[in-house]
Amino acid sequence: MKKLVVLTGAGMSAESGISTFRDSGGLWEQYKIDDVATPEGWRRNPALVLEFYSQRRKQLLTTQPNDGHLALAALEKDFDVQIITQNVDNLHERAGSTHILHLHGELTKVRSTGGGEEVFELAEKDYDVKLGDTCPKGYQLRPHIVWFGEAVPEIENAIKLTEKADVFLVIGTSLNVYPAAGLLNYVPAGVPVFLIDPNDVPVYRQGVTVIRNGASEGMKQLIPQLLKCC
Ligand code: OAD
Repeated sequence: MKKLVVLTGAGMSAESGISTFRDSGGLWEQYKIDDVATPEGWRRNPALVLEFYSQRRKQLLTTQPNDGHLALAALEKDFDVQIITQNVDNLHERAGSTHILHLHGELTKVRSTGGGEEVFELAEKDYDVKLGDTCPKGYQLRPHIVWFGEAVPEIENAIKLTEKADVFLVIGTSLNVYPAAGLLNYVPAGVPVFLIDPNDVPVYRQGVTVIRNGASEGMKQLIPQLLKCC
């Protein structure tokens, strides 16, 4: 089977009711990145940071994968689909996709601040993480999220996957944030690239097929093209 590598961003989950970051009304209009998505913000006010991510987790309980997520999961019968997502939600998993690399971490996990990078999966009943919630060794738990200014440990694996792509697909990302946005540079020459987004996204690569639509409708348009070309 051909390897379809898919890079997804916040727009993938927009139709599920999860706000994007940079669209009008997006999360970065409501919160300051510095306050809730940086190590400095965590040091200044960890309670605020924990509350921000607890809210995001609670939102997961009321949202469902949309037709775009489901279509990607269904493509596993025709392609070896590997998803590289910048999203910290679990909607790809819940849609049934089986190969998902989370570049920016996962909302449903927390990790110890005591070093050693111990990661813990949260039960739904524990989604509201507070100051004073600790790992078994007694260290405060923090969200398992890659904040601005932190290393992106999965980027090497994402590059390796991208280099092996037979087809590359980008869905719902403004390509503003590196190193994720730079993955396109690792797509081998000659490999078809498709991009689904309702808005203009700057892509510095020749020959990208742009489907200017939301994730669900965009996937419907893409599938016949994909099956024909690849
Ligand atoms: P952005 O908010 O920057 O971009 C969202 C993209 O989704 C835009 O290009 C929109 O046009 C598009 N979009 C909106 N509605 C859509 C729909 N229905 N279907 C498809 N696309 C749609 O989000 P990201 O590019 O994912 O990092 O942002 C990258 C990173 O910046 C995030 O992972 C997050 C953020 O700060 C961290 O928090 C570490």
